[in-house]
Amino acid sequence: MKTVVITGISGVLGSALGRYYIQQDWKVIGVSRNSKLKGDYFTELCVNRQESVDDAHTLFSYEPSLIILCSGQIETEIGKKGLPLQEQFDSITRINYIFPATVGIQASYLKPKNPLEVVAIGSIADGSPSCFGPVYHASKIALHYFYSGVGPIACCANPAVRLRLYRPGAIKGPLAWAPVNRLNEKGYKIRAKRVNGAPEGDQVARKIAKWIEKKVWVGTYKEPFTFKIFKYIFVLVPNFFYKLQSFGWRKGSKFV
Ligand SMILES: NC(=O)c1ccc[n+]([C@@H]2O[C@H](COP(=O)([O-])OP(=O)(O)OC[C@H]3O[C@@H](n4cnc5c(N)ncnc54)[C@H](OP(=O)(O)O)[C@@H]3O)[C@@H](O)[C@H]2O)c1
Repeated sequence: MKTVVITGISGVLGSALGRYYIQQDWKVIGVSRNSKLKGDYFTELCVNRQESVDDAHTLFSYEPSLIILCSGQIETEIGKKGLPLQEQFDSITRINYIFPATVGIQASYLKPKNPLEVVAIGSIADGSPSCFGPVYHASKIALHYFYSGVGPIACCANPAVRLRLYRPGAIKGPLAWAPVNRLNEKGYKIRAKRVNGAPEGDQVARKIAKWIEKKVWVGTYKEPFTFKIFKYIFVLVPNFFYKLQSFGWRKGSKFV
């Protein structure tokens, strides 16, 4: 029986992935900070804060063939006038970027008995910065840069370990709603349309699991056309992109 370790198992995507792999007869080690978590979407619970090098090695101790780093956080609280809060910044950056990168580094030094796939869950939000989710976007951009930069080195240095990245789009659930805490009524309506039209966790989980089988390095769920345009503007004319963001903040935020 194959073993998969899934962090963020209590979440929308993590629980859906857990259910999928249990149906496929895998042993699912579900990782959570909550020692009381119960559910039919994991075989064994691993209580882990996902902060340190030791926490990363605890995941390897189950000798998995697959680790899916699905924990993630978005700005659920903001400061005065929409400014980021330091505490949220620290926590989001750690779980969205520093810990998945730490797992990537530590995995690259392992000598596993069987090949190991490490799949970090990023986001299509990594294409360009945004005033409406700046800390989240920055952490996901950093994650993408790290996996695409370190992954190729790790693959040559240690062919038994593969570092890969999947970038989902909006998934129906609470995390997708967080950007609205900076938006005005008009912006809220635009976001609501996007979240209400988003796929369920089960559908996204199936897509991700099928993608994992294909052995492609970076996978992307449907990227809206506007995201692509913003991405190109950000890369090609960054000063113009900054001005566009300033304009968007004045038009779309509830703080101006
Ligand atoms: N939902 C979307 O629209 C969307 C879109 C693009 C990408 N994604 C990415 O997909 C992944 C899963 O999203 P989701 O919708 O399933 O999110 P979710 O329902 O909010 O679940 C995320 C899980 O991560 C864990 N977590 C949150 N903050 C943490 C922290 N500071 N330290 C350790 N664990 C923490 C929590 O588990 P415990 O409390 O049990 O520890 C939580 O249940 C995330 O990486 C997210 O960024 C989501």
